[in-house]
Amino acid sequence: MSEYIISIDQGTTSTRAMVFDHAGNVVSTGQLEHEQIFPRAGWVEHDPIEIWNNTREVIGQALSKANITRHDIKAIGITNQRETAVVWDKTTGLPVYNAIVWQDTRTQSIVDRLAADGGVERFKPVVGLPLATYFSGTKIVWILENVEGAREKAEAGDLLFGTTDSWVVWNLTGGVNGGVHITDVTNASRTLFMDLETLEWRDDILEVFGVPKSMLPEIKSSSEVYGMASDNSLLREVPIAGILGDQQAATFGQAAFDQGESKNTYGTGNFLIFNTGEEIVHSKNGLLTTVGYKLGDQATHYALEGSIAVTGSLIQWLRDNLGIINSAPEVEALATTVDDNGGVYFVPAFSGLFAPYWRSDARGALVGLTRYVNKGHIARAALEATAFQTREVLDAVNADSGVDLTELKVDGGMTANDALMQFQADILNVPVVRPVVAETTALGAAYAAGLAVGFWETLDDLRSNWQESKRWTPNLDATERDRTLRLWKKAVTKTFDWVD
Ligand code: G3P
Repeated sequence: MSEYIISIDQGTTSTRAMVFDHAGNVVSTGQLEHEQIFPRAGWVEHDPIEIWNNTREVIGQALSKANITRHDIKAIGITNQRETAVVWDKTTGLPVYNAIVWQDTRTQSIVDRLAADGGVERFKPVVGLPLATYFSGTKIVWILENVEGAREKAEAGDLLFGTTDSWVVWNLTGGVNGGVHITDVTNASRTLFMDLETLEWRDDILEVFGVPKSMLPEIKSSSEVYGMASDNSLLREVPIAGILGDQQAATFGQAAFDQGESKNTYGTGNFLIFNTGEEIVHSKNGLLTTVGYKLGDQATHYALEGSIAVTGSLIQWLRDNLGIINSAPEVEALATTVDDNGGVYFVPAFSGLFAPYWRSDARGALVGLTRYVNKGHIARAALEATAFQTREVLDAVNADSGVDLTELKVDGGMTANDALMQFQADILNVPVVRPVVAETTALGAAYAAGLAVGFWETLDDLRSNWQESKRWTPNLDATERDRTLRLWKKAVTKTFDWVD
């Protein structure tokens, strides 16, 4: 009888379940999108109940497509959109508010208040992150301050906080009937509350934020048996054995296990992660310091991260808000109706700018418009924005590490876009390489779970699963590359200081 690992990828736009075999191949997939709720400019929410219902449903889809049952599954791995905050009542199992998504900027005034004493970098030496609306900590504060009765309930010990990994695991292990309240070190490293050295919550920081410790999940490693699925899903009695935030999961799925290895994922945003091994490296160039992974009681691996808030979601915006394409993949055809960007630069600072700028006062700008410009140029500028932003992050990684990356391993949905990947190689001036299994996020969580239950034995077993599928080689002359990069950087400056 064959055995498999199932991965649940609770992402920003959808929830997926994927079944993997021992060679790391995808056997089946279930997927459901959930609603993106935009109550006001800058606010982004998800309904946690919809997410949990979708989780159960996609598990069913994946099992039935593979024609298997829970008896064929050795373990469950969980990966998730990071920083998205859910606060729920442990006595009813109901969220007290919608999930506040990582892209949401409503907590700017909380950030300003906290930064008034010591600046935005006041906790960075301990937690690796600047104060920014991006991270989950400020979102918890918003809920405690704005949802009626939340603070009293939190102080009475009735409320629990979690990123969506915690929410899914708590429900999967029984919810109000004994749900396990945990997270892993990678997700905990995105809250602003975890000490990177001790891997524990910092009481002094919690006190400054006014967040009761009783709300927080227990921090676990990324690979160990946390508990069993209960009978409220089709996975009853299957061990949950791996959790990694989605970007760390993609790094693990790319087999970038060692110091100096890296990957770049093209999702709703882009996230370049550079493994710094057992060393905690503090960036001088606008990168975050984060936990890469920790397998059971083995040493912690750390990473530098260049987070870009808006890449793939800009293409969705062209589809949903401008209506110039009917589906996201159509952007490639539209962008290649023109020979170049026609002088247009699109800086999608919809959530401010993340790495390497960390400018929450920035808002999006479309510059260089003339009467000549058509929708093809706008589509092209939107795609190019992903490549330019990645170039700026890669420059920061090279500067921090002191060694230039010689190629970039990529994954995620937008890597199917050939025009973009070629432009990416051109703008970086290094080859861009995609593996056969581009679903590295789900694969990474499967690996973490599979290692914990002995489905895979060593990291070398996993490394041998990695195979190159496609390589894009740079083909743009240096003068043109420098010219277009200079214009991009100029366009970025037009987005600053846009919030009253
Ligand atoms: O930090 C945000 C990131 O985890 C979201 O990833 O793939 O859901 O857009 P994704």
